Amino acid sequence: MRGIITATAHYVPDTKLTNKDLEKMVHTSDEWITSRTGIKERRILDKDKGSSYMATKTAEKLLEKRGISADEIDLIILATATPDMYVPSAAALVQKNLKTNNCWAFDVNAGCSGFIYGLVMASKFIAAKKEKKIIVIGVEKLSAYVDYEDRNLCVLFGDGAGGVLLEPSQEDGYGIFDYILRTDGEGAKYLNLRGGGSAMPASVETLSNKLHYLYQDGKTVFKFAVKGMSDTFLRLIKQNGLKAEDIDLFIPHQANNRIISVVGEKIGLPPEKVFVNIQKYGNTSAATIPIAMSEAYDAKRIKKGDKVVLSAFGAGFTWGSVLFRSGH
Ligand code: UT7
Repeated sequence: MRGIITATAHYVPDTKLTNKDLEKMVHTSDEWITSRTGIKERRILDKDKGSSYMATKTAEKLLEKRGISADEIDLIILATATPDMYVPSAAALVQKNLKTNNCWAFDVNAGCSGFIYGLVMASKFIAAKKEKKIIVIGVEKLSAYVDYEDRNLCVLFGDGAGGVLLEPSQEDGYGIFDYILRTDGEGAKYLNLRGGGSAMPASVETLSNKLHYLYQDGKTVFKFAVKGMSDTFLRLIKQNGLKAEDIDLFIPHQANNRIISVVGEKIGLPPEKVFVNIQKYGNTSAATIPIAMSEAYDAKRIKKGDKVVLSAFGAGFTWGSVLFRSGH
């Protein structure tokens, strides 16, 4: 029994932070940001709202699109590294907001790969024939963890949420086909947020040393991201007897347009088969792939029977690729 995607949705805050705005905040330029990353603007959530707000909006849209009530949902899997608070999970807050008592819910923290980790988990629950309607959402409020005095990082990230509804396929040949997922904790030193965790509880020192902000060694992460996404894409299609030209759409994690271009070349896909929306939202970590999926379905760039590959790379390191054949 395969899980198929029966609805997609996304929510991004209205407030835009453009490259021109950033020029007034740090020593940067629209030209540098555009040429080095492809980003033109990103969305910023209100200070007093958390990730669960955007995830709830996304879940409500999924229910509306599918025409079902919240009580029909069996499970909510929320991929995020920026939950509203450490305890309880953001997934629990979404369950409360949806006012459903028939489901269980949990968070997945796998950095920018969180959504594809969650999607694979959801497909396993569907295959086990227990849960029948699963919401998988990727959501991040990265603006809460970015130092807006650090030009290396503040130009990259934005806030947003995207999600899918996964259900058992009624027809053969559609749904989540296969995946390759990997983790290598050696990557922790290159991409992390150390302050406030159990090894380094919040203190005057962690605050003054700015350890509650995201840290990234961009150049190292860039190289691993290119390798991780292209290797898993190529192995995944090969083990399914496919060639690059058989893939109708490739949706990579949106961290940097240069990474996306290099990966596209390595895997042998023309630009028209590679989905890019980084110019509008920047890097929204676990949310980039489901936001892109939602936009791709809305724009009819994915049709019934299309073979689609999702590839991600993020903190951990975590990375991988997922192959599905669209059921609608
Ligand atoms: O989503 C999780 C995974 N994350 C990623 O995949 C991100 C991977 N890394 C990247 O996308 C890129 O490494 C960055 C976009 C983060 C940085 O691009 P880069 O080409 O690697 O630039 P760099 O860090 O080597 O910096 C080049 C120069 C430096 O100046 P010097 O030392 O050559 O004088 C930086 O100080 O650009 C400077 N620079 C900037 N200049 C203007 C760095 N940030 C900026 C900025 N505006 N915002």
